[in-house]
Amino acid sequence: MSIDAQVRHTEGESLESYLNFWSAADKGRGSVAAVIAALAEAGAAIAAVIASGPLLGAMGAEIGQANADGDKQRKLDILADEAVVSALRRTSTAYYASEEEEAIVTLNADGDLAVAVDPLDGSSNIEANISVGTIFSVFPASPAGATASFFRPGEEQSAGGYIVYGPHTSFLFTLGEGVAYFVLDPATRTFRLISHGLKIAPSTREYAINASNYRHWLEPIRTFIDDCVEGSEGPRGKDFNMRWVASLVAETHRIFMRGGVFLYPADQRAGYEQGRLRLLYEANPIAFLVEQAGGAATDGAERVLGKSAASLHQRTPLVFGSAEKVARIASYYNDSTFNRSRPPLFGERGLFRS
Ligand code: AHG
Ligand code: MN
Ligand code: MN
Repeated sequence: MSIDAQVRHTEGESLESYLNFWSAADKGRGSVAAVIAALAEAGAAIAAVIASGPLLGAMGAEIGQANADGDKQRKLDILADEAVVSALRRTSTAYYASEEEEAIVTLNADGDLAVAVDPLDGSSNIEANISVGTIFSVFPASPAGATASFFRPGEEQSAGGYIVYGPHTSFLFTLGEGVAYFVLDPATRTFRLISHGLKIAPSTREYAINASNYRHWLEPIRTFIDDCVEGSEGPRGKDFNMRWVASLVAETHRIFMRGGVFLYPADQRAGYEQGRLRLLYEANPIAFLVEQAGGAATDGAERVLGKSAASLHQRTPLVFGSAEKVARIASYYNDSTFNRSRPPLFGERGLFRS
């Protein structure tokens, strides 16, 4: 974050004013700022639909088709995708990649940006009235065309962020100069700045993982979680707390607000060799945000932003959050003093053995 940005941005400032200030510094920035504004507009529309819940019909209803990743599409998945596409059509987005679209869509062929989006993250939570969100990543469009615009290291992103539709609607994004945190004002339907330069607490005692997959995990993850679960009686000598919302956006937002670490590792189930989450429109933007906030994001061992996608809906294992904790998890993969063969928690010496 530049000193100017720190001085200039004030709490309560509108998103429009924030983006105008940022884009005035360089003429190349206007198209990225327009994409952020368009996504904010789509997000406000999606938030309004979500706020009405079942009053507008069964938004969580499966509508028959499976998306590119094999998940059944729900009504709100499609509605959110349409809201995002129609907002982006009015920008200089050349290429659009979405969880809900099989292939890259060309929007404005002479545009200068490529935008990858998970229009509705956490869609299994819609009917339960649990937070869901929209996640996005922006690359400069490549002169080499659509695929080259996306199949490149995540560290080349121009912007990334997410919107969470929760008790309030939060919008976090980075333009590569720290993380900006906005909230939707329901009275005016505009986003207002809460803070700029958000940081993730460097250490934590809270972790998020779907523990029902324990038996499928590989040794480094089992050992790490065993050590956390053993708490003050185990090798870590302290107690930990666990959360699992099953909306990546909501987990990410919690980690931004109070620290923590999130894990969706690879496991031994068929189809989970690379975990569950998608590199282009889930891991890349989250990793960009998290690094901009002083945190870290890996696939367990390697930095996410160093990876290049080779296919549109490519999955990646994902570990992110407080930097110390992410480094510790990498050491369970890389360092024999961590990745030693310990008796499993549910095995011979296990806590849960009768
Ligand atoms: P999506 O709804 O876009 O498919 O994403 C759901 C993701 C993510 O939000 C969450 O962390 C994870 O799937 C939950 O997976 P499990 O149901 O396997 O726990
Ligand atoms: Mn998702
Ligand atoms: Mn989704």
